[in-house]
Amino acid sequence: MADSKFKATPAELIINDPPKRFILKTIVQIYPQKNTELSGLYKSGNLYCTQCEAEGFRAITYFLDRPDVLTTYTVTIHADKTKCPVLLSNGNLVAKGDSPDGRHWVKWVDPFKKPCYLFALVAGDLKHISDSFQTQSGRKVSLELYSEAENVSKCDFAMQSLKNAMAWDEKVYGREYDLDIYMIVAVNDFNAGAMENKGLNIFNTKYILARPDTAVDQNYADIESVVGHEYFHNWSGNRVTCRDWFQLSLKEGFTVFRDQQFSADMGSAGVGRIDDVDMLRNHQFAEDDGPLAHPVRPDSYMEINNFYTTTIYNKGAEVIRMLHTLLGPETFRKACDEYFARYDGQAVTCDDFVAVMSEVSGVDLTQFKLWYSLAGTPHVKVESYYDEKTKNLKVKLYQTNPDTPGQTKKPPMYIPLAVGLVYPDSNSPYMFESGKTTEVLSFTQREQEFNFPDLKGKPVLSLLRSFSAPIKVDYSYSNSELASLVRYDTDPFSRWEAAQILYRRSIKELCADLKSKRPLTTEADLLSSFSSTVSQDNNDPELLSRLLRVPSQAYLLDQLDVYDVEGVYQAHQHLRRTLAEHNQKTMMAQYEKLKTNRPYEYETAAVGARALKNCYLSYLATLGKTYANVVEEQFQKANNMTDKLAALEALVNNRSKRKSEFLEAFFEQWKQEPLVVDKWFALQAAADSPTVLSEIKGLVTHPAFKLTNPNNVYSLIGTFFRANPYYFHAADGSGYQFLADQVIELDAKNPQVGARMVTGLLRWKKLDDFRQDLARAQLERILAVKNLSKNVYELAYKSLQS
Ligand code: TRP
Ligand code: ZN
Repeated sequence: MADSKFKATPAELIINDPPKRFILKTIVQIYPQKNTELSGLYKSGNLYCTQCEAEGFRAITYFLDRPDVLTTYTVTIHADKTKCPVLLSNGNLVAKGDSPDGRHWVKWVDPFKKPCYLFALVAGDLKHISDSFQTQSGRKVSLELYSEAENVSKCDFAMQSLKNAMAWDEKVYGREYDLDIYMIVAVNDFNAGAMENKGLNIFNTKYILARPDTAVDQNYADIESVVGHEYFHNWSGNRVTCRDWFQLSLKEGFTVFRDQQFSADMGSAGVGRIDDVDMLRNHQFAEDDGPLAHPVRPDSYMEINNFYTTTIYNKGAEVIRMLHTLLGPETFRKACDEYFARYDGQAVTCDDFVAVMSEVSGVDLTQFKLWYSLAGTPHVKVESYYDEKTKNLKVKLYQTNPDTPGQTKKPPMYIPLAVGLVYPDSNSPYMFESGKTTEVLSFTQREQEFNFPDLKGKPVLSLLRSFSAPIKVDYSYSNSELASLVRYDTDPFSRWEAAQILYRRSIKELCADLKSKRPLTTEADLLSSFSSTVSQDNNDPELLSRLLRVPSQAYLLDQLDVYDVEGVYQAHQHLRRTLAEHNQKTMMAQYEKLKTNRPYEYETAAVGARALKNCYLSYLATLGKTYANVVEEQFQKANNMTDKLAALEALVNNRSKRKSEFLEAFFEQWKQEPLVVDKWFALQAAADSPTVLSEIKGLVTHPAFKLTNPNNVYSLIGTFFRANPYYFHAADGSGYQFLADQVIELDAKNPQVGARMVTGLLRWKKLDDFRQDLARAQLERILAVKNLSKNVYELAYKSLQS
């Protein structure tokens, strides 16, 4: 085409007067080695790879870069044969050959139409492991997992997870894989966790590599869940994709729900649910309560990459879970079958999904759909009245939904509220007429009343079992009722929640004691409930480890209207020490019982035993010298990273004299393993130490730290503001200033990562006046930067406007 007929700028290509039908050929020159944004085609070490979601494809070539443009791709790659022996793209390899000049080429064809955000290309010197999977209809699928040579020994668990995920999706959703080959490539530099590119997933190494001596139990769990997640996208995301990016939760919420179900089926369902809820309440509730609160289906954005949020992912998953609860598993499955059949090969909307759910089930979901359009966490107040004479329990519910940016005066929501009734001092649960011990109340009005007649005596209300809706519940339990629930509730989530409420109350009272300079007192009911949990049989040790964990400082702060940074820190520390002092003998005995010389295995019982043992270790370590040798011995003798890291953490957080000696030894041993070095960064960033910020500043210039590596940034800088609130919110503003410095430097290199880091400054409204000024000043400083990315701009600007 003649020059005058088109205009090409870096941002767009304008073709004047195109004919009705035409073939467009574009030739572009790009520089992957200069691409530090890690979006489009970039280099990670010596490896070429792509990341096209959300809008990276346009950084490779001009294209109709929107998810509703579905195309088949034929990709031919030419490269130097020694530098890039491996050349991959989506679909099936159909031809390859050598070129005369030491180069070679390959040709890949992906028969499935797809949006360009699912395009992928990889070129480099990689090694791989292979396996295969036979689908339910008898087709054989080759499975290949690629990594750098030194990492192939750490890919086996991910491969096993992939096979488990493939079998699970057939069994639970009837979904079969559709190509002859499924490839996964692990790369060191990656903005997110992983990417579901058709037939060629690209993963952050963090979610692939694991060996007992390098990875902790949580890493194994994360690998299983992320490998599952990306695999499940093949149907929920790829075969049926999103019409536009406002529908992102259509694929992400649904796929998170699917990966949560998968993990629950693979390991311990109760603890899995607790951890998912804990994560939701720590992060999503905070987001929903801040300046960036947005609905599961947002209605505006400046930068789509800022909307890969915990609301889209995790609240989105809760919305799907509620549909699953309302329809029941069989009807939900039928509706999913219909959704996949009807929309296969299309780009659709959240409305389409809900319409199928409603049509197949016959349930009217008009009101339910508010969960997609309204931001904010609904608040449910509960009152109960027990009548001794009639043995009837009346439960009154009141719902409100707080205002969020741009949304006020919200109508009531459709809330599925799962409840049970527990008789105190007994473990025989109450049965509803349905013959079940849990009943799901349909709470749809602003105020509603429910009655439970014919009781044996006054029961304790077990509310929101399994966290049946993403809401806040407010009910004035007595402490002894909570202790009964911790002990006798049959729902693991509700047991844990009762324990959480007891901890929260104690912290609140300790904060009040501190304010009025009274001696610190710890609730007797909490002490006795905690002690009884410690002395329980370890039949579900992992659950016990969760029941014994005091909520994080960050979560406790968020429960307050105004952060009491100093108070929560002191109270948290005091409470943990008191609990340890009161139970040290039993804890030490249990610790000894749980200790084992058996080789590491990632398996539910062993994971649980380690979790509980290390929970006790972390309590005992708060008592200082008395248990220092126990901690040091575990550090030195551990035969796996889970135990080793737990010991190092206990050392670092309790001002051990030998702290730097152990930290150095650990680094020396593991400096060749970037993912272990990330753990070393994170541990120091979270350290309870008055010099933590100066240590972090030192680590930013450490040769093992690179601002261009997202994992390094998340581990060191992200962990500091997320997990170390006391020092991050230092009264001199040094934490805010440090974070702003990093955001500014990052923004010039990698705006997506910069935007994730600026989230640490956005919720300044929760701070006291003095700190508000300090945090706002840093946001203003960031906004004044020339050529600031729209990623960071959108967040900082919206926060200051709020
Ligand atoms: N679609 C990916 C997932 O959830 C998320 C993702 C991968 C992503 N890479 C990204 C999101 C880059 C934003 C930017 O599985
Ligand atoms: Zn996803």
